[in-house]
Amino acid sequence: MKKKVYINEKIKKFNKKIIVPGDKSISIRFVLLASQAIGKSVAYNILRSDDVLSALKAIKKLGINYKINKNFCEIYGMGLKGFKFKNNTTIDAQNSGTLARLIFGLLINSKNQVILKGDKSLGKRDFARVIKPMQMMGQNIRSNNNRLPIKIKGTNFPRPLNYFESIGSAQVKSCILLAAMKTPGITKIKAINSRTHTENLFKYLKLPIKIKKEKKIDLIDYSGTKNFKGFNYIIPGDISSASFFIVLTLLTKNSKILIKNVNVNNSRTGIIDILKKMNGKIKIKNKKIYKGEEIADIECKYSPNLKGIKIDPKINSRAIDELPLIFCLVCAKAKGISYAKNLGELRHKEQDRLKFVLKFLKMIGIKTIEKNNNLKIYGNPNIKLKGSYIIKNFMKDHRAFMLACIAALTFDGAKKIIINDADSVKTSFPNFISLLRNLGAKIH
Ligand code: S3P
Repeated sequence: MKKKVYINEKIKKFNKKIIVPGDKSISIRFVLLASQAIGKSVAYNILRSDDVLSALKAIKKLGINYKINKNFCEIYGMGLKGFKFKNNTTIDAQNSGTLARLIFGLLINSKNQVILKGDKSLGKRDFARVIKPMQMMGQNIRSNNNRLPIKIKGTNFPRPLNYFESIGSAQVKSCILLAAMKTPGITKIKAINSRTHTENLFKYLKLPIKIKKEKKIDLIDYSGTKNFKGFNYIIPGDISSASFFIVLTLLTKNSKILIKNVNVNNSRTGIIDILKKMNGKIKIKNKKIYKGEEIADIECKYSPNLKGIKIDPKINSRAIDELPLIFCLVCAKAKGISYAKNLGELRHKEQDRLKFVLKFLKMIGIKTIEKNNNLKIYGNPNIKLKGSYIIKNFMKDHRAFMLACIAALTFDGAKKIIINDADSVKTSFPNFISLLRNLGAKIH
């Protein structure tokens, strides 16, 4: 794939039915959990992106075999004590924060040492959030300032944990749950709300998890060391990928789209709630439950009367990966001022995404005020770009690349917009450009 693309005209009206690739969070969880099952597990519609391939390569390095092709992915799990690997085995998580955080949990009982590394972007991210609970459970971890590369060695006697997960991070919660799976006794997590795919998979596998829901937190108990058999799973479409097409449609005159079979787990649908409140024409249709996850079709239409919004910070974690897209495109084009608060977690993603949002909005001429991670965006429905733009130096952040493409296809006035690091889409959405071209987008 080319390293940069350029776009010099808006997309014309479209009316299409599309599907987006499998959910990234669920695909990675499938790989990691299947590696702990006894026997063969099969996934259909698994996301075939770099992050998921990194997860497959990681379990292979730990002695677990797999097969992947266009139609299915098979993993031949060896149970909770099934990893077999040499001392100082290197695992490269590349760009995947989710893989890098969750793999700590699976290594809680490993006899040999793993050296975990990643790409430049992952190398800048802080692992203290998982190092702390894993050390409390008995893992031996050596790092330089909580950054990769990190040396991880398990313990013969993992200790159950009683932990307050106060960030609202599904990666941290899931890391602890995976470790709890291999730890005798009851691990207790008091967790600020975050995506619930790990818990849902545990429930579907009939693993001993108990969840008590309170207002903003879940009280989770897990009783460790129960083995489980291989399982089958059809992975639904990723709402984070769908979100680029939802926003494209809301901003394109006389257009309509139907996105089939998307995961609409309530912990992921913050974007739908936010956009509907802004007058976005979105309907959720044919809702059904599949193995504990909600799946539906998402229909959206051109929405000419978008208005500013005060985003309740409680919704942040339900839209964490979509907030930059909402800020840079929808709030920018909406009538009135939008407000968002407590956005500090955006600074801990593939790049400092809050910094990117500020830079992007400034570049396109939208007035923005940021103070203490709170944001005020002065929307302009008549926004007109001028001249040419280059989007670069964003740490190959796949979501920044895709957001910039949607902006170039929907904003008036630009002569040409050049966007670097086109290959970043391989992380989460390899057919992003071809899907846009199918709708009629001219991307060079
Ligand atoms: C993810 C959780 C989120 C999200 C990331 C994927 C997951 O991170 O930003 O893209 O699959 O658990 P945090 O839970 O750390 O916020």
